Amino acid sequence: MVSRFKIKTLTEFIIERQYEYPHAKGALTRLLNDIATAAKIVNREINAAGLVDILGYKGKKNIQGEAQKKLDVFANEQFIAALKGGAECCAIASEENEKIISFENEFSEMGKYVIAIDPLDGSSNIEANVSIGTIFSIYRRKTEVGEGGKVIDLLQPGVNQVAAGYVIYGSSTMLVYTTGKGVNGFTLDPSVGIFCLSHPKMMFPDKGIIYSINEGNYIYFDEGVKQYIKYCQEDDKKTSRPYTSRYIGSLVADFHRNLIRGGIFLYPATSKAPSGKLRLLYECNPVAFIAEQAGGKASDGITRIMEKEPETLHQRSPLFIGPKLMVEKTEEFLKKYNN
Ligand code: AHG
Ligand code: MN
Ligand code: MN
Repeated sequence: MVSRFKIKTLTEFIIERQYEYPHAKGALTRLLNDIATAAKIVNREINAAGLVDILGYKGKKNIQGEAQKKLDVFANEQFIAALKGGAECCAIASEENEKIISFENEFSEMGKYVIAIDPLDGSSNIEANVSIGTIFSIYRRKTEVGEGGKVIDLLQPGVNQVAAGYVIYGSSTMLVYTTGKGVNGFTLDPSVGIFCLSHPKMMFPDKGIIYSINEGNYIYFDEGVKQYIKYCQEDDKKTSRPYTSRYIGSLVADFHRNLIRGGIFLYPATSKAPSGKLRLLYECNPVAFIAEQAGGKASDGITRIMEKEPETLHQRSPLFIGPKLMVEKTEEFLKKYNN
């Protein structure tokens, strides 16, 4: 039977949306396409990971001192290669590289954009066949075109993001992104290798029913977070409590589930990690932009994530993200019980 609905591909969708930006010359369109192409290659490798000898540690440590997996390295190389080849991006900040990668060739130096990226998020979950992801953020450069990008081009607050998105390599592979006019999700049809619009205008459900936090860290949490967890577990039909607890350990997968089902994700500061674990530039800011565009909120407990001024490329931040009311409730608890 012929479907009544025409499939809309990611490429078609991005080009159609270009008219919303009167001065757009297609640069952002080409950037998003480059990211989607690299994501498909990474997806193919992840799917084959069980078949070939690509799992396991590569023997190097990344800037965070965490052991890198082979797939982290592979994904990093793919995104860098895809972006270096175009003429739109002049520099990248990646979780896997201590310093920015500045593209110093005559084409890239004319690029107006820079990208912050976590090429593979949740990589400790790979062996367990659990969903992992890629997270990215796009900014307009601060320096003049004509030379490679500089660190100051990347040290911008999240409010300056031009676009942000993530790819989730899950039971199906999806790309979800925003350019500040809502959030749209595309599912990869693996038989033809095309991302198709499957989740238009994504919004958090009004009512949250899930809380996601690594409760193994409980003893290191401050009183506000402990009290909020207790609140989540109390019985109150009006607010659908007790909430369901769900935690995968991949920010992308936890955030994506909570966006679809309605839930809050918390990675607070702990007594062991006073700034939390997640990285502001390429983990917190991109999901914060998406959350706000989906009617939600993202905060570090006090300050809006996207207003935080970054000082270093790999700086960390506590993260409370989800439906607006849920995040505001957490902030109330932190205010009441901390200090
Ligand atoms: P990455 O694999 O890029 O280093 O990120 C892992 C992050 C994030 O995806 C997840 O939310 C968090 O680490 C989980 O941390 P815990 O294992 O401490 O819960
Ligand atoms: Mn990550
Ligand atoms: Mn990573």
